[in-house]
This record gives sequence, C-alpha cells and structure tokens, in this order.
Amino acid sequence: MYSKELVSAVAALGLVSGVAALGCKDDPVTITNQADADIAAACTTIPHDVFLDNQAGPNIVLNGQLREIGGSLIVRNNSVIQSLQSTSLQTIGGSFELNNVISLVSLVFGALKEVGDIKWITLDRMSEPTFGPSGITKANSVTVSDTFIENLSGINVQEVTDMFINNNRRLSAFSSSIKSLSNVMVINDNGLNLTMDLPNLQWIANMTIANVSSISVPSLRAVNGSMRFDSNLFSDFIAPNLTEIQTGDLSFVSNKNLQNISVPLLTMIGGGFTIANNTQLGKVNGFDNLETVGGAIKMRGSFDEIDLPKLHDVVGTAEFVSTEDITKSCDTLKGLSGNVIQGTVTDCTSDDANANNSTSPAGSDGGDSGSADNGNAATTLSGGSISAVVTLAALTGLIATFL
Ligand SMILES: *[C@@H]1O[C@H](CO)[C@@H](O)[C@H](O)[C@H]1NC(C)=O
Ligand SMILES: *[C@@H]1O[C@H](CO)[C@@H](O)[C@H](O)[C@H]1NC(C)=O
Ligand SMILES: *[C@@H]1O[C@H](CO)[C@@H](O)[C@H](O)[C@H]1NC(C)=O
Ligand SMILES: *[C@@H]1O[C@H](CO)[C@@H](O)[C@H](O)[C@H]1NC(C)=O
Ligand SMILES: *[C@@H]1O[C@H](CO)[C@@H](O)[C@H](O)[C@H]1NC(C)=O
Ligand SMILES: *[C@@H]1O[C@H](CO)[C@@H](O)[C@H](O)[C@H]1NC(C)=O
Ligand SMILES: *[C@@H]1O[C@H](CO)[C@@H](O)[C@H](O)[C@H]1NC(C)=O
Ligand SMILES: *[C@@H]1O[C@H](CO)[C@@H](O)[C@H](O)[C@H]1NC(C)=O
Ligand SMILES: *[C@@H]1O[C@H](CO)[C@@H](O)[C@H](O)[C@H]1NC(C)=O
Ligand SMILES: *[C@@H]1O[C@H](CO)[C@@H](O)[C@H](O)[C@H]1NC(C)=O
Ligand SMILES: *[C@@H]1O[C@H](CO)[C@@H](O)[C@H](O)[C@H]1NC(C)=O
Repeated sequence: MYSKELVSAVAALGLVSGVAALGCKDDPVTITNQADADIAAACTTIPHDVFLDNQAGPNIVLNGQLREIGGSLIVRNNSVIQSLQSTSLQTIGGSFELNNVISLVSLVFGALKEVGDIKWITLDRMSEPTFGPSGITKANSVTVSDTFIENLSGINVQEVTDMFINNNRRLSAFSSSIKSLSNVMVINDNGLNLTMDLPNLQWIANMTIANVSSISVPSLRAVNGSMRFDSNLFSDFIAPNLTEIQTGDLSFVSNKNLQNISVPLLTMIGGGFTIANNTQLGKVNGFDNLETVGGAIKMRGSFDEIDLPKLHDVVGTAEFVSTEDITKSCDTLKGLSGNVIQGTVTDCTSDDANANNSTSPAGSDGGDSGSADNGNAATTLSGGSISAVVTLAALTGLIATFL
C-alpha cells in the first residue's frame, strides 16, 4: 500500500496511473478513466485542480456528491473524450478550461452556476453546451474561441472583466444578460449571421465588434474606453440610452450594410470619432446631442449630409470627405474650424471618388497611427493604436493573470 502522501506526491507529478486511489485533497486530482471520475464525484469538495488525462474518455461523468472544485477543471489536448457531464457540480473556483478537445460533442452541466474563468478553445465538434435553466451566472472572464458552437445562450453572467468570442464559425446566436464589463469585449470572425443581444448591458469599458449581423444594446449607458465596429453586416446601430464614451474612441469602419447610426443621447466622446467606408450610410444624422470630442474627427463615406448640431468642443482636427455632395454641411462645419474645432477642419470635400479609400483611425494621418503630430490634440487619441484583433497568446496572458 502507498501512503496517502506518496499517492499525492505521485499525483502531483502527473504520473498517477489510475490504479492508485485518488484522494479528494490531491493536488491535482487527475482523472484517467471513469473509475477515477466516480471516486472524484464522491467528494463533496475538491479543493485543488482537477485534470482530465489526455486519454480520459470517451465518456466522463462526474455525477455524485461533487459540488465544488476549488481549483480549475482542465481538459487539454484530449482527442478521445466525446462527452463530459455533471449533474451536481455547482462551482469551479478557477478556470473551466477545455483546450484542444477536438472530439467533445456533449458538455452537460445542469447545476453549474459559478466559474472563475471560462476558457474554451479549439473544440471542433461541440455545438451546444447545456446548462441548467439559469445558466452560468458568475464568471470573471469568458473566452470561447475556435469552436463549433452554434448558440451561446447559457452564459448569463452579470459582471465580467473580459469576454472574447471569436472564430466560432457556426455561431449564429449570442445573447447574454451581462450588465457590465470592466475591461475588454472582443467579438469577431464568428458565424456570418451572428445576432448579438445584450438586453441588460449598461456599461462596458472597451468593445470591439466585427463580422456581426445584428447587435442590440438597448440599455447601454456608458462606454468607459473605446467602442469599435469593423466589417459588420448590420444595417442599423441604435444605442438609444448611450450618453458617454468616457475615455476612448468611437469608430465605424467598413460596415457595408450600415444605413443608420443612431446614438441620440450621446454627448461626449473622450477620444477620436471615426466613420469611414460605410458605403450605404446616406446621412450622418444620429448624433443630435454630441457636444464634445476629445480627439480628432474623421468622416469619409458616401453620405450627403452631416449633422452635428450641438457640437461645441473638438480638441483635435476634423476631416469630412464624401463621394456625394456635402457642400451644405461643409458650409456649417467649416464655420467651426479653429474655434469649436480647435485642431481646424483640415478637409471638407464633396464628390471625391476616393472618399472610401482611407479607413485609418481619426487623427492618425492616413495610416501612420502613432505619428507624433504638432501640438494639436489628435495624438491624445487614447485607443488609436490598439489592435482590433487580440491574439490567442495575448488572451492566454490575460487569463493567466486571474489564475
Ligand atoms: C497541447 O498541444 C500543444 C500543441 O498542439 C502543445 O503546444 C501544448 O504544450 C500541449 N499541452 C499540453 C498540456 O500537453
Ligand atoms: C439559443 O438557445 C436558447 C436557449 O436554449 C434558445 O432560447 C434560443 O432560441 C436559441 N437561439 C437560436 C437562434 O437557436
Ligand atoms: C444562419 O444560421 C442558421 C443557423 O446556423 C443557418 O441555418 C442559416 O443557414 C444561416 N444563414 C445564413 C444566411 O448564413
Ligand atoms: C471580419 O472582420 C475583419 C475586421 O475585423 C475583416 O478583416 C474580415 O474581412 C471580416 N471577415 C469577413 C468574412 O467579413
Ligand atoms: C434608458 O434610460 C432610462 C433613464 O435612465 C431608463 O428609464 C430606461 O429604462 C432605459 N432603457 C432601457 C432599455 O434600459
Ligand atoms: C472609467 O475609467 C476610469 C479610468 O480607468 C475610472 O477612473 C472610472 O472610475 C471608470 N468609470 C466607470 C464608470 O467605471
Ligand atoms: C479599456 O478601457 C480602459 C479605460 O476604461 C483603458 O484604460 C484600457 O486601456 C482599455 N483596454 C483596452 C485593451 O483597450
Ligand atoms: C434611424 O433609427 C432611428 C432610431 O430607431 C430612427 O428614429 C430613424 O428614423 C432612423 N433613420 C433612418 C434614416 O432610418
Ligand atoms: C485616397 O485617394 C486620394 C485621392 O482622392 C489619394 O490622394 C490618397 O492617396 C488615397 N489614399 C489611399 C490610402 O489610397
Ligand atoms: C471598404 O469596405 C468594403 C466592404 O464593403 C471592403 O471590401 C473594402 O476593402 C473597404 N475599403 C477599405 C479601403 O478598407
Ligand atoms: C466608395 O463608395 C462608393 C459607393 O458609394 C463605391 O462605388 C466606391 O467604389 C467606393 N470607393 C472606394 C475607393 O472604396
């Protein structure tokens, strides 16, 4: 017989064979087969991590007494497992990590409510995770990347620091009751008809959304960072309750179906304001209360009207260029040059066939973002050089800080 200490020590080295009985307090608990899973499921609480061996499967069931894993539940590089489930597990203190688990089809966690971090990456076959009626209601960060998931509706967190949903090519529905997000939300390269519904979202730090076909943010009041929309397919962007973009940029670039942007209560953009190459956008008239822009303004497109009736302080420069006739708007806008628009109106041009050819951020001088400008404040653009695409490596680094 091995002593308990020895078993734990061996387990800690990852050499446990499954023959030696695992203990609830092992660090980590390593599950190699269903027999191990049965023993683990008999623990009420497992204080440390639970690792599934890369050969564990094809079906692992953690039904029993197990309510809480204090550490993380981790499955990595396992191409055997097809189904993972637990009817009893309620809490995972660390990460719920599924990384490179390419045969997993079924994930059923009917009681799971709280998770430190959701980190699901490279799940080639899982189409719809199943949770209980209330879903997962608490998580610090959520990463769902490179999966086969079609519908992400069970992640009903209220507050989250980060959310990355990308490269889920079949994802066509994402709705979440999230209320606030304190750092970064990045959604891109998912299914081309992805509809996003964030009915309860009230404030968010930074939001970067690409390749989405509809977005609904009826309750959004404040953005405390930047908000960017690139290459989306939606025809409307309506944020009826949004009043402030406190420190960062507002940007709409190359959204080819976009016909209407309406943010009627917005008074302030802390950074730059870019509208470029949205060729269906016929008028820029959804900013009735915009007063202050902390950076530069760049509007290039195929619109025939630009209305910014309340504008009274723009710290940087402003350019307005259209393929259509905007002389009437230009008469008004040029009058603001040097006074309301401190950095002056550098360009206000109608009928320019190349109006849609430049999509670099406002204040970046046609692409050299970061180029030091003479004293005018275009260079104060806080988010001008932040890449819209967050790499997996960056993600991993970010998540690691929570572990
Ligand atoms: C999983 O596989 C990748 C390469 O496919 C490798 O870089 C990584 O170290 C592996 N992880 C583990 C825990 O074996
Ligand atoms: C997504 O799943 C939720 C809950 O299961 C369901 O109510 C919703 O209709 C689904 N959406 C789509 C587009 O399938
Ligand atoms: C949108 O997604 C649904 C569900 O995945 C799919 O059946 C439909 O064909 C998709 N439509 C388009 C236009 O891609
Ligand atoms: C998705 O959006 C990115 C911009 O973030 C763009 O480069 C890419 O072409 C888009 N993909 C599709 C299929 O529209
Ligand atoms: C919009 O804001 C008003 C005033 O704060 C609030 O009464 C209303 O419920 C908000 N609308 C939504 C959809 O949240
Ligand atoms: C917005 O961000 C600033 C600086 O990061 C912070 O001081 C402020 O409290 C934030 N506001 C909200 C509403 O979170
Ligand atoms: C997110 O927004 C905050 C301000 O609220 C800013 O300090 C931070 O740099 C932003 N992060 C990214 C990645 O954009
Ligand atoms: C844009 O949307 C707003 C809000 O729904 C609406 O009041 C306005 O009429 C729309 N404008 C156009 C041109 O469709
Ligand atoms: C856009 O077109 C203008 C001519 O109107 C040209 O001077 C400029 O170099 C072009 N920019 C890009 C990025 O192609
Ligand atoms: C403008 O948007 C279209 C999609 O509508 C895209 O194909 C094109 O590359 C964009 N132009 C620039 C200069 O980004
Ligand atoms: C600009 O937009 C018009 C549509 O209004 C389009 O025909 C043209 O090709 C675009 N030009 C560039 C350079 O993207």
